[in-house]
Amino acid sequence: MQFRPATPADVAEITAIYGHHVRHGTASYEIDPPDKADMAARLARIQGPGWPWLVAASSDGELLGYAYASQFRDRAAYRFVCENSIYVRHNRRGQGVGKALLSALIEAATACRFRQMIAVIGGAEPASIALHAALGFSPAGRLEAIGRKHSRWLDTVYMQLPLGPGSSVPPEQEPA
Ligand SMILES: CC(C)(COP(=O)(O)OP(=O)(O)OC[C@H]1O[C@@H](n2cnc3c(N)ncnc32)[C@H](O)[C@@H]1OP(=O)(O)O)[C@@H](O)C(=O)NCCC(=O)NCCS
Repeated sequence: MQFRPATPADVAEITAIYGHHVRHGTASYEIDPPDKADMAARLARIQGPGWPWLVAASSDGELLGYAYASQFRDRAAYRFVCENSIYVRHNRRGQGVGKALLSALIEAATACRFRQMIAVIGGAEPASIALHAALGFSPAGRLEAIGRKHSRWLDTVYMQLPLGPGSSVPPEQEPA
């Protein structure tokens, strides 16, 4: 398995991977999958400020999954907090791809000077909770019945991981 930054050439596969999870799962609260143009715009919006968007590829070039990190909320004081997003091709789940990909993303987000990473786990998905717990994320709250999809009320679970020095020292530069 190899990890590398996503490029516009990956957009079709990323759109297909995410589309499956939008249609069949509850990790995303989108109901209608985005098309390739939407996804290309999302990729540009993440990579524009220098945030990481990684893909995992098999040795024969198949895209196995992707993960990105973006500022948790837009307002300036959130400058050092990112939210992650990770999707593994549906028929490649449970084979270690998610764990390796999220580990690589944590490293890349730390290099971007983020100090905290938040996982916003739609549908309180057990696989996602297990993945984040396995990488050291701590439970940080649960909002009950805030989503509605596939005729079910959905809880959202928050988990949090300090990155690098976390909150033990101030940032090199205060947010403008
Ligand atoms: C959640 C997801 C990214 C995990 O990736 P994955 O490649 O399937 O997970 P891995 O095989 O790397 O397993 C990671 C850990 O989670 C555990 N795990 C994986 N699937 C699990 C499941 N269905 N139930 C319970 N634990 C599970 C594994 O045992 C492993 O823990 P360990 O290292 O302590 O043994 C993937 O299943 C996925 O894309 N799901 C749909 C979208 C989604 O929920 N994305 C997260 C949005 S926040």
